[in-house]
Amino acid sequence: MTLKKDILTLFETNRGKALSGQQLADMLGVSRNSVWKVVKTLQQEGYKIVAAPNKGYLLDEANDILSPESIRVNLDGKYKDKHITVLATTTSTNAEAMKMLQDGKIEHGTLIVSDEQTQGRGRMGKSFFSPKSGIYMSVCLCKSTKKLSDVMIITPAAAVAVRRAIAKYTDKDARIKWVNDVYIGKKKVCGILTQADIDFESGSAGTFIVGIGVNFVNQHFPDDIKDRACALFDNNPTVTRSEMIAEIYSQLMELTDDITDHSFMEEYKKYSLVTGNRISYAINNEQKTGIVEDIDSDGGLIINEDGKRRTLTCGEISIKSADGSWI
Ligand code: BTN
Repeated sequence: MTLKKDILTLFETNRGKALSGQQLADMLGVSRNSVWKVVKTLQQEGYKIVAAPNKGYLLDEANDILSPESIRVNLDGKYKDKHITVLATTTSTNAEAMKMLQDGKIEHGTLIVSDEQTQGRGRMGKSFFSPKSGIYMSVCLCKSTKKLSDVMIITPAAAVAVRRAIAKYTDKDARIKWVNDVYIGKKKVCGILTQADIDFESGSAGTFIVGIGVNFVNQHFPDDIKDRACALFDNNPTVTRSEMIAEIYSQLMELTDDITDHSFMEEYKKYSLVTGNRISYAINNEQKTGIVEDIDSDGGLIINEDGKRRTLTCGEISIKSADGSWI
């Protein structure tokens, strides 16, 4: 570790608490002058490190600059050594992860985060609005599997991970819209795009890149999504992005530790927006509607279509809400 990373880790671990130059110097076995130079550099990079009279320096609670250190200090011991890349900007964290995969730089649990994306990707070839100060993260999971049903639960696991993180840090009632969107009320707060590199024939290890985008603070949403999208916080978040990212990451790692264990699907169902509701969906370009009876343990949607049962394993749906509008 470099001195800069060490000092940043100490500030992140002691957010809001003053550390004197001498304390920092003693803890790291360097001179006060070296500490002072690093503090200056961090301040120049935008870190809100303020002087506390007669006490030293402190990292302001509201500082929200993402760094591997700011995320790492919020991770459980078993994830502290995972590889974390934090970028100021990128086209897409999923694209970045794919490139790293091709270059042989991905390990199980590698996390790639960016402050913004210039070409954020959504499902079905759509784009994902990704301005500065949102959460854009890709988690790489290296898994060995021969069963498609085990692969199918990775995206639902990510939705449950996001819902748990929102429940931990806010009082918002987040719900999951099959299969991969998280909603607050009638508006989407998070989208998930899982991409896979897998060889079913050999059953050899596959790599899954789970891309998660959360609208963190209120943004000027473009016209085409402004009525359908919302942010987690209007202003003044009560949690940092780093805390939220670390929580989503840890939950996802736990939920997918054994991908043959689908028991969390009960939780997925409990917080699903769809069960018991009428939905609209397309089959071979034909628009249909039906009532969702259940979600099976592999994430399939069991629909009653005028008495005929059908299981939907992928696709886009719209849900009819109580007031008759579609979400
Ligand atoms: C969707 O809503 O259709 C899925 C959106 C997924 C967005 C995330 S943001 C991080 C990762 N990188 C991307 O380009 N997309 C995913």
